[in-house]
Amino acid sequence: MSKFIRLETGNAVSFLSDQSIAAYEPRVKAAQQALEQATCAGNDFLGWMHLASSLTPEHLADIKQTAQTLRELCDTIVVAGIGGSYLGARAVIEALGNSFAWLQSDGANPVILFAGNNIGEDYLSELTTYLRGRKFGVINISKSGTTTETALAFRLLRKQCEDQRGIETARKVIVAVTDAKKGAARTTADKEGYKSFVIPDNVGGRFSVLTPVGLLPIACAGFDIEALVKGAADMEACCAPEVPFDQNPAEQYAALRHALYTAGKKIEILVNYQPKLHCVNEWWKQLYGESEGKDGKGIFPAAVDFTTDLHSMGQWIQDGERTVFETVISVEQPNATLLFPHDDENLDGLNFLEGKRVDEVNKMAELGTRLAHIDGGVPNLRIVMERLDAYNLGQLIYFFERACGISGLLLEVNPFNQPGVEAYKKNMFALLGKPGYEAETEAIKQRL
Ligand code: PA5
Repeated sequence: MSKFIRLETGNAVSFLSDQSIAAYEPRVKAAQQALEQATCAGNDFLGWMHLASSLTPEHLADIKQTAQTLRELCDTIVVAGIGGSYLGARAVIEALGNSFAWLQSDGANPVILFAGNNIGEDYLSELTTYLRGRKFGVINISKSGTTTETALAFRLLRKQCEDQRGIETARKVIVAVTDAKKGAARTTADKEGYKSFVIPDNVGGRFSVLTPVGLLPIACAGFDIEALVKGAADMEACCAPEVPFDQNPAEQYAALRHALYTAGKKIEILVNYQPKLHCVNEWWKQLYGESEGKDGKGIFPAAVDFTTDLHSMGQWIQDGERTVFETVISVEQPNATLLFPHDDENLDGLNFLEGKRVDEVNKMAELGTRLAHIDGGVPNLRIVMERLDAYNLGQLIYFFERACGISGLLLEVNPFNQPGVEAYKKNMFALLGKPGYEAETEAIKQRL
């Protein structure tokens, strides 16, 4: 039986003037009620809150069946999507998978690749070359169905898939995850007869990992989506408003980070000690950055992979401007066992570590870093997971989502919109001469 992930607030409260976050309880509980009763800003995007506990076995079976079809027909699956239509799936697949799984298929599972998340000509060209001769399929994920990066990749991938595999097979190995009615992805899926899944209207992109947006690619990669959903549902119960403030991890995290922000800690650095968690960092950055960074407010969400980045960002964190706090994701048990090797010459002087688990060295690096950073004036929070498996990741996902909703409301912003994302798109379309953007094109010309 897996344990629940737990939040250790450690020394972080000692950085606050009243050494406590108890005073936040009424505001946090009010935010929770506003979420539950859908009286908050963005209340048409609260579908994520009880998603995990309400997914039906039939829905999960449909996703698994589609994944099975793709797994049987493909050695490679390209997931096209960006932002919330991409990061959750990648975070879970990389956290659970072999670190080298993307290099080649292990025979049992397809290689999962990601596209549609950039406009890099070299990247797309190299992807096209890589896919030549491969039995590949495509999951085209876009809620709006019109996102430039994803639409560009899908044009290329669809054509190549049809050319390489024939129209009939392409129809079996291209799947759409999109809006129920609108957008180019929906129109194409319906016209071509692709299998498709609907992204619920009331679930925004960055909260959509437990919809087919995340679940289908994760199932294609061979991971247990039922355990993922169960972990999220169990964490939903742990973070419910009825759970007392001092025992509620989402409430504690939201209150503490808000208190630190108010005390001048404007940057939160999410830290991991497992390279597999790199994309969990990326997913978290989007979740918090897009939810909170608005109206001139919001903690800047940064992230590092330790110990790697101790050799690059470590100096800044130890000694730079004291505006940061850290939240460390700590995994208690690695899945593999590897011992520090003996070396007869011992030129590096490390034989004293011989026979120790590599993870023990990693854990001492983590503890040593935490102590050093606290000494350097960096408040430290710690999220402890028993192991990296689907159940624990499901918990982690829901914990961060729930805390994000509360945190955004404490900040008095709408956590569920992202109006700022449109500004670059408007300029890009004006610069590219998109029909309908003539006035913006003129305005930009005056500035250049
Ligand atoms: O969180 C969000 O809403 C965004 O990051 C979107 O997911 C992203 O822009 C992709 O949009 P779409 O799914 O419409 O292609």
